[in-house]
Amino acid sequence: MKRILITSAIPYINGIKHLGNLIGSQLPADLYARYHRARGAEVLFLCATDEHGTPAELAAAKAGKPVEDYCAEMHLVQAKIADGFRLSFDHFGRSSSAQNHKLTQHFAGKLAEAGLIEEISEKQVYSNADGRFLPDRYIEGTCPNCGYDKARGDQCENCTKQLDPTDLIDPRSAVSGSTDLEVRETKHLYLRQSQMKDKLDAWIEGKTDWPILTTSIAKKWLHDGDGLQDRGITRDLNWGIPVKKGEDDWPGMEGKVFYVWFDAPVEYIASASEWVDAGKGTDWERWWRTDKGADDVHYVQFMGKDNVPFHTLSFPATIMGSGEPWKLVDYIKSFNYLNYDGGQFSTSQGRGVFMDQALEILPADYWRWWLLSHVPENSDSEFTWEGFQAGVNKDLADVLGNLVSRVTKFCRAKFGEVVPEGGSYGPAELALIVRLQTGLDAYQTHMDNIEIRKASAELRALWVAGNEYLQEAAPWTQFKTDPEGAAAVVRLALNLIRFYGVISSPFIPDAAASILAAMKTEDDTWPSDVGEALSLLPAGHAFEVPEVLFAKITDEAREDWQQRFSGIRD
Ligand code: MF3
Ligand code: ZN
Repeated sequence: MKRILITSAIPYINGIKHLGNLIGSQLPADLYARYHRARGAEVLFLCATDEHGTPAELAAAKAGKPVEDYCAEMHLVQAKIADGFRLSFDHFGRSSSAQNHKLTQHFAGKLAEAGLIEEISEKQVYSNADGRFLPDRYIEGTCPNCGYDKARGDQCENCTKQLDPTDLIDPRSAVSGSTDLEVRETKHLYLRQSQMKDKLDAWIEGKTDWPILTTSIAKKWLHDGDGLQDRGITRDLNWGIPVKKGEDDWPGMEGKVFYVWFDAPVEYIASASEWVDAGKGTDWERWWRTDKGADDVHYVQFMGKDNVPFHTLSFPATIMGSGEPWKLVDYIKSFNYLNYDGGQFSTSQGRGVFMDQALEILPADYWRWWLLSHVPENSDSEFTWEGFQAGVNKDLADVLGNLVSRVTKFCRAKFGEVVPEGGSYGPAELALIVRLQTGLDAYQTHMDNIEIRKASAELRALWVAGNEYLQEAAPWTQFKTDPEGAAAVVRLALNLIRFYGVISSPFIPDAAASILAAMKTEDDTWPSDVGEALSLLPAGHAFEVPEVLFAKITDEAREDWQQRFSGIRD
């Protein structure tokens, strides 16, 4: 049996994610996980919340809560919303877990042993009143260039000039406002990625089947300018994973934590360990250690394009540099951005539709279908309310939903709620089967290649083919002169509905489950031979007419939402 490890980029803990975040990683990953489970593979699908770093600290401070409490609460909020979208993680972990502390410190220790960590002394601003070093952006003062009095130590927002904290006139701490600042000497750890450049380069060059979006970003970082730079992996913050060498203290690094981007990808591994500790699995090393069975695992990562450098370079440098047999990623699927109604989705500005709001107005499947069929795969794409309304109404209500309702209601009226017997299949039915077989094969190829636009277009085409067949066969007319023939058409059509339920389930799992429930079957075997799949429900098999699968979005509702989501979220 195939074994597939799937991870989605882990979302930051601060705040609820918008639909652009969702379609940029978690939702495509879920599609892929569901597809492979449906086809019988053994899948481990992992995600987590990314809980460290300055933004988490700031968000907690804004909420007036200790950062631990804030993260614990927000983790539950995000987990619940993920569930609402039917994201089928085997485990949704936390980068602040004990497991991740241990693994992150372990990797740092191994990298140090391998000579891949350098200690560098730097001068940094220390705030006596706050009792801490301040990152550049935590220092405010007057811009020497334009006189703006709230310029930050890294840049002036007003005139955009890049600054050093020491450039500021009358500098003060953005945390407390204190001006009791001094420049002190402090030590930081750097991951010597430059030492591993050739190895990473050769590895990326071998990935000829990866999306261009992924490899082009990696190559740019490897070759542009001065090439791959060493990376600071420690910070002067309170919240984070304490810097240690394995289990040992790291002299000179007291009070420092690892940089969030160092520990976050390690959480992919830690999440598997959490999964076992939560009693949901028995052996995580079988997925992550090539010396313990993971050499036959196929590992696929999903992420937005801004995450690509960390996944193609920094994290592989960590894995390779450890000198231990950890599993390296086999395929990286990355995405462009989804824009919102002529602008950008923005968390900081509260612009667009956020995951919780989306679920308040419509069920998950509506969003899943539209987002996946418009995924920003080869270029950025755009969410507009008109486009959303049109896509949902046409594909889901008019094509799939209508077919299900028309066939089941007609059958109930003429033959009762059982698959009718009599009649036989003719050339039109055989032609449909041939058409569906070709389409199914293409659909699978696209899903295997993670070409989501093409896969959704093919699935839609399969729904349309069924509708066209039914339109032609017109059992409602045929019934008047040839009830036996009409019975054969309806029998095929009821089987077709089940077939659609099975193959559509990765995209629209709830509707698929309703379809199978209405067809009163638990057989959700993925079809291989379409002819066989369409004779699975025999004459005499009982079913029931389902509730409306998809309601159309009215112009009124659309205008309402357009209005409601035109401003910024408070
Ligand atoms: N939190 C990051 C983001 O939302 C993604 C982290 S992915 C991981 O952009 F590799 F670090 F896990
Ligand atoms: Zn300025």
